[in-house]
Amino acid sequence: MTKPRINLSLPHMSGREQQYINEAFETNWIAPLGPNVDAFEKEIAEKVGVKDAAAVSSGTAAIHLALSLLNVTKGDQVFCSTFTFVASANPILYQGANPVFIDSEPESWNMSPQALERAMQEASLAGRLPKAVIIVNLYGQSSKMDELLEICDAYDVPIIEDAAESLGTTYKGKASGTLGKFGIYSFNGNKIITTSGGGMLISNDAKAIQRARFLASQADQAPHYQHSTVGFNYRMSNILAGVGRTQLQVLDSRVSARRSIYEIYYQGLANLPGITFMPELEETRMNRWLTTLTLNEEEAGVTVKQLLTALNNENIEARPVWKPLHMQPLFKEASYYPHQGNEHVAEQLFTSGICLPSGSNLTGDDQQRVIRCIRDMFREIGKNTSYFILRKHEV
Ligand SMILES: Cc1ncc(COP(=O)(O)O)c(C=O)c1O
Repeated sequence: MTKPRINLSLPHMSGREQQYINEAFETNWIAPLGPNVDAFEKEIAEKVGVKDAAAVSSGTAAIHLALSLLNVTKGDQVFCSTFTFVASANPILYQGANPVFIDSEPESWNMSPQALERAMQEASLAGRLPKAVIIVNLYGQSSKMDELLEICDAYDVPIIEDAAESLGTTYKGKASGTLGKFGIYSFNGNKIITTSGGGMLISNDAKAIQRARFLASQADQAPHYQHSTVGFNYRMSNILAGVGRTQLQVLDSRVSARRSIYEIYYQGLANLPGITFMPELEETRMNRWLTTLTLNEEEAGVTVKQLLTALNNENIEARPVWKPLHMQPLFKEASYYPHQGNEHVAEQLFTSGICLPSGSNLTGDDQQRVIRCIRDMFREIGKNTSYFILRKHEV
């Protein structure tokens, strides 16, 4: 008999969402926009400490709007982390601009300041500085923002912080997503809080956010439908914003839950040979959106493929980490800057990284099933039999 499915990260409702949805129905605020949208924007801006926020239909839309607001157009260059989901870079292509990919560094797995510096120097010498840098905070981990900000400030290039996965994370006491010119969040179904689908563009530039709302509503202003600019249909619906408001109320507890899940994995697996968990950058508190680890196949005597297959056979959804964008056929023309010398950090992470089920509603029993499956795998084919013999009397 197939065992019940354990998913990577499922939506986790608070139980109060229905009340906001009902209210939207009762007041007939079904059409896009409405009081929930206004309130959600205000509440998230307050929560993360920025001047303003625009609720939109997805995180991807928020990135696209940020690029439009920064006047990124055909032929421009935009730097972007290579180690990310494709949605971080697709909007660069929407604008007809050229992505340049920047490698990760080992302490955060996020953008390497060394690689960024080299890329900026070369771009500056060629007289082709990028219009923007998209810095992605992966798996809930903040990037080394001070170092990256210093470089971007020196060249006067604005930052878009892709905090789709890092809502609830703090970097030196500041909310992740608030450190650049623009920040974006995603409320996709697998994110730490969800509106089923949705996103938010945030900034301390309230005028820019005002313009974002205009662009996101078909650049529509005049009652007689006059247009002089290309717009988008990117606003969030009032119903979904109601879901978002209730989800935001439980964000802190969702962060705690995901951090506890990480702790339990750590206790259960960190002493297996070849396993290293994603480190937490100093002076940050990450949301541990997904617990991720790398596997040194040599030390473990187990391959990534074997481990993923074993989990999959147990009906457990575990995934490789994101495939770096400079390795994707879609971006084969794009330039790429490795971390340093011949050290390609994102590529190493890609060949050795695994994401474990980490939803805040993962039950203790299910998590133990994941841990047991991995330990059994190591016991059966791994190299650490002596470890298991030693521990046998404890089990
Ligand atoms: C790093 C990253 N950037 C951008 C996005 C895009 O967000 P959305 O799915 O809401 O468009 C996602 C998630 O899907 C993501 O993980």
